[in-house]
Amino acid sequence: MADQKPILLSGMQPTGDLMLGNLIGALRNWVKLQEEYDCLYTVVDLHAITMPQEPKLLRKRTLDLLCLYLAAGIDPERSTVFVQSHVPEHAELAWILGCTGTMGELSRMTQFKDKSQRQGKNIRAGLFFYPVLMAADILLYGADLVPVGDDQRQHLELTRDLAIRFNHQYSDTFTVPKAYIPEMGARIMSLTDPTSKMSKSSEQPKSYIALLDPPDLIRSKFKKAVTDSGTEIRYDPEGSPAISNLLTIHSALTGKPIAEIAERFSGKGYGEYKVALGDVAVEALRPIQEKFKELREDKPGLSKLMADGARLAQRRARRILDKVKRKTGFVTRPR
Ligand code: TRP
Repeated sequence: MADQKPILLSGMQPTGDLMLGNLIGALRNWVKLQEEYDCLYTVVDLHAITMPQEPKLLRKRTLDLLCLYLAAGIDPERSTVFVQSHVPEHAELAWILGCTGTMGELSRMTQFKDKSQRQGKNIRAGLFFYPVLMAADILLYGADLVPVGDDQRQHLELTRDLAIRFNHQYSDTFTVPKAYIPEMGARIMSLTDPTSKMSKSSEQPKSYIALLDPPDLIRSKFKKAVTDSGTEIRYDPEGSPAISNLLTIHSALTGKPIAEIAERFSGKGYGEYKVALGDVAVEALRPIQEKFKELREDKPGLSKLMADGARLAQRRARRILDKVKRKTGFVTRPR
């Protein structure tokens, strides 16, 4: 428990289906990071409601995502795995931090600008406040490192600014976190448009492979994946972005170098290659799907897991939050 390893925290929103891009780009990396770091992985359901959510679906997706973390290899014996809303300290610290941040700072967040445009006239105040909640997630545990995608860099910068400001205004309280940049991040692109990233928020289900897609659907999505105007199986992201994307996925799933795969399929047609890749993906996802099903159906096991995770997380969070409240000038609640 009294772990001297650097602390690392990350989270995903329980919105949309978790897909191949998340597995290859993030989740598999999280699994590896467990070897070197004291990891906390959370399902950020409080963030999810910055966009409209159907309550039933939110509940289902929260449990699904938690089980997918574990099915992919996050080990609750080694890492702290929890649901964000089970630890109310997140919302509490977000409020306090929000009172140190400024409207100007938050107005500069590009993700807010993008997402608020999509909400039209009635923009949720929570969407504006979103980065402050994310800062709270990170600072509450004294995280040293945060693996995030490019789209979250600016939020991490804000987190650092808020931490530095608080430390300066009061006294040293927060660890100032750094972005963790993985050595090689294979960028997985959409199957219907290889120029855009494969995204779980895409409206087009054919553009991505969800981790829980049934085998037949996986095969058919690969069969229908767009291909380039050429005919050759070769890696050339500029000239043949579609087939290059398929080779990237293939390589990420098998651990084989792209060149070796391209060599093996040289002279074969796109159709035949896509069938082979469909089979590879089905086999690669099978163990995750099996593990998922087992975890997801074990209701008591899942409850215990969530209770344990929340307890561990909360114990850590409270230590820092208590300090923050004391320094801010709140009267300590008599016990
Ligand atoms: N905002 C992140 C995303 O959408 C999710 C997130 C919330 C997060 N809190 C976090 C990621 C803390 C890393 C650390 O991807």
